[in-house]
Amino acid sequence: MYKINDNYQKLPGSYLFSTIAKKVNAFTAANPDKSIIRLGIGDVTQPIAPAIIEAMHKAVDEMGQAETFRGYAPDLGYDFLRNAIVENDYKSRGCDISADEIFVSDGAKSDSANIQEIFSVDNKIAVCDPVYPVYVDSNVMAGRTGVYDTEKETWSNVIYMPCTKENGFVPEFPKETPDMIYLCLPNNPTGTTITKAQLQEWVDYANKVGAVILYDAAYEAYISESDVAHSIYECEGARTCAIELKSYSKNAGFTGVRLGYTVVPKDLKCGDVSLNAMWARRHGTKFNGAPYIVQRAGEATYSPEGKAQLKEQVAYYMKNAATIKAGLQDAGYTVFGGVNAPYIWLKTPENMTSWEFFDYLLENANVVGTPGSGFGPSGEGYFRLTAFGTYENTVAAIERIKKL
Ligand SMILES: Cc1ncc(COP(=O)(O)O)c(C=O)c1O
Repeated sequence: MYKINDNYQKLPGSYLFSTIAKKVNAFTAANPDKSIIRLGIGDVTQPIAPAIIEAMHKAVDEMGQAETFRGYAPDLGYDFLRNAIVENDYKSRGCDISADEIFVSDGAKSDSANIQEIFSVDNKIAVCDPVYPVYVDSNVMAGRTGVYDTEKETWSNVIYMPCTKENGFVPEFPKETPDMIYLCLPNNPTGTTITKAQLQEWVDYANKVGAVILYDAAYEAYISESDVAHSIYECEGARTCAIELKSYSKNAGFTGVRLGYTVVPKDLKCGDVSLNAMWARRHGTKFNGAPYIVQRAGEATYSPEGKAQLKEQVAYYMKNAATIKAGLQDAGYTVFGGVNAPYIWLKTPENMTSWEFFDYLLENANVVGTPGSGFGPSGEGYFRLTAFGTYENTVAAIERIKKL
């Protein structure tokens, strides 16, 4: 009789977005006349920019001609995209990264879930709390997280680094030394980040204790402050301790197109073993390349027109973020984030739990957000609103909240 991977049975189940959907459906059924505004899920709403659509159309036409047709893409990505990434995301920022250190993929969710595969199950992971749930869940599936405490909602073998208003949302070095450190900066869900000097301290710490940093920079395009690093490789010594994950979902609206990449520097070694070579082997065996049409779309994000159009798109969402932030502050809320990220993280009023505030907002303002407790135990008492809606909906939602 076959056996299953029992680790999957340990997963507490991601009730967050299904519970939200159930509650919203029940409310809509009971109140068919009410119009709901959704500022919950972190999906984009603006269409793909014209320069990118044009590049995709051209690539589609190439696929229809014998002379320009392409079959399997190179496992690690086409040179045209890897070179554009090096020039625009790294060289332009003074980071020493070469094309053979870039691994093109179908997005940061799969990379952030899969990267743990090249590490021993005996490693101890550290995560910011609250954070994007994929890091912990993928380690649960791999059998690295120990026993789940249903009351505390924590795993016995995971080091949690609370990020709350008390520490300014800056993760502190844990008492126990971790082997793998997940940093998501700017952070989902808090919308906060740390300075380049603070990130440098993490790089120094990882090099000192022999840990690897798994750095998720999915929201890098939203950074507006000059003392915040756009890449961890802006920090000295990061080439020997850090892997960086990038996505085109939030800067270019590719949530449905699917494209991302991971950087594994050749200087990153465990003893004599090169992690770059390990990830190349893993990628080559388990991934057959991102589609040609999509990689051409990715290349177009770096053209002068593409860059200008994406800058406008990011500005559109950040105008929403500023609208939400100012509106909530006017209404007396304590609000964080929204400056270097498209997320607003608010303290729930009158000591409501995250879910109590969810119900309150749904019933009284007909606005849907995301309870902070769904992102980790330290998210309790907080609530996330996203800036990814339309401007009109964002303004309307804030007007409703202000009237409460
Ligand atoms: C921190 C973080 N990383 C990765 C992702 C997923 O990115 P992708 O769409 O490239 O898979 C998200 C999506 O919400 C995210 O918030």
